Amino acid sequence: MNHNNQDMFSPLTLKNGVELKNRLVMAPMTHTSSNPDGTVSDEEVRYYAHRSKGVSMVITATTYVTPNGMGFPNQFAADRDDMVPSLRKLAKGIQDEGAKAILQIFHGGKLCPPALVPDGDVVSASDIPSDREGAAIPRPLEEAEIEEIIEAFGETTRRAIEAGFDGVEIHGANGYLIQQFFSPYSNRREDRFGGSLEKRMTFPLKVIDKVQSVVAEHGNEDFIVGYRFSPEEPETPGITMKETLHLVDVLADKNLDYLHVSLINFFSNPRRGVDDLTKTRIHHLLETINNRVPLIGVGSIYTAEDARKAFETGIPLLALGRELIIDPDWVQKVAEGRDDEIITEIDKAKQEELVIPNQLWKNIVNTPGWFPGV
Ligand SMILES: Cc1cc2nc3c(=O)[nH]c(=O)nc-3n(C[C@H](O)[C@H](O)[C@H](O)COP(=O)(O)O)c2cc1C
Repeated sequence: MNHNNQDMFSPLTLKNGVELKNRLVMAPMTHTSSNPDGTVSDEEVRYYAHRSKGVSMVITATTYVTPNGMGFPNQFAADRDDMVPSLRKLAKGIQDEGAKAILQIFHGGKLCPPALVPDGDVVSASDIPSDREGAAIPRPLEEAEIEEIIEAFGETTRRAIEAGFDGVEIHGANGYLIQQFFSPYSNRREDRFGGSLEKRMTFPLKVIDKVQSVVAEHGNEDFIVGYRFSPEEPETPGITMKETLHLVDVLADKNLDYLHVSLINFFSNPRRGVDDLTKTRIHHLLETINNRVPLIGVGSIYTAEDARKAFETGIPLLALGRELIIDPDWVQKVAEGRDDEIITEIDKAKQEELVIPNQLWKNIVNTPGWFPGV
């Protein structure tokens, strides 16, 4: 092995004692190709299996915890007990190839298309619509409904345990409900779930507490709980790097097994909210975390050299998203010193060979600029 790759291929022991065989993780990616009844389709299981040999952990596409949290057409479900066999198939498909299987769990909040949620009743922290074209004005959740959604995160965690997953990742990123509560832009509440920065953290922290209490009750010590966040919002008011560093400081003491930042570019700098805008977001996050919990970095890592550069920052774990769709054998190639065989652009003739579900494939080839090569 190239000795420069040691950072990438050394094992890492998480706080709960679970050993990850290396530092490379598959990023969660929605594939919108599930069956109409909410079960995971066979083509989706094949897609995961094809990408689970090299990485230590596969974080699945996000799944919803309540019917009014469904965020995408043909998204698979985890909001009811009869989905457990489908979830089991997914976990096994990943684990049989040697990776840990982590179920990403979410509620879409105001980003749910009205057609996908019961009675078109789109909900959020407050009535601030997203700026997506045609976005509905969301109905602010009643306090009792918020408690029900927190419960539902716990119930979905129990299903993940029953289905044999190695862990769950709480999806607090990318503008969905958990982030909507943390955001001063989306959350204009004046009750215990909104107002000050501390109060805006109430919902995310309660979700974490619930998930952890369910794990303590139903799981074993090996069950992994991670949390994903987006560091900044462009809006004013909106989440700033300063607020995120405060959140991360609190999260680092929550006994989570890992934190996971959501970034398009690993090496990006903060927009605002810290004195030194010349240092990367990753740098600021690592400084605040100060080795209390492993952080997963991500964003536009395509070549082995990109990854080696990323590990030079001291990041403990690195997620690969689009690159593992483009080249499912990326990790094995780097491990075997075959860097020059890595493919970094999607080959539009190779859907079948790459084992990419139909609808995901259509989304990729019909969205110019999203994937290199399209
Ligand atoms: C097809 C696709 C679907 C995605 N779905 C999710 C998702 O379900 N949950 C999530 O947290 N991030 C999702 N993301 C974001 C990725 O996890 C990742 O952060 C982003 O693609 C940047 O990493 P990359 O440059 O390695 O692709 C998605 C990205 C892509 C390309």
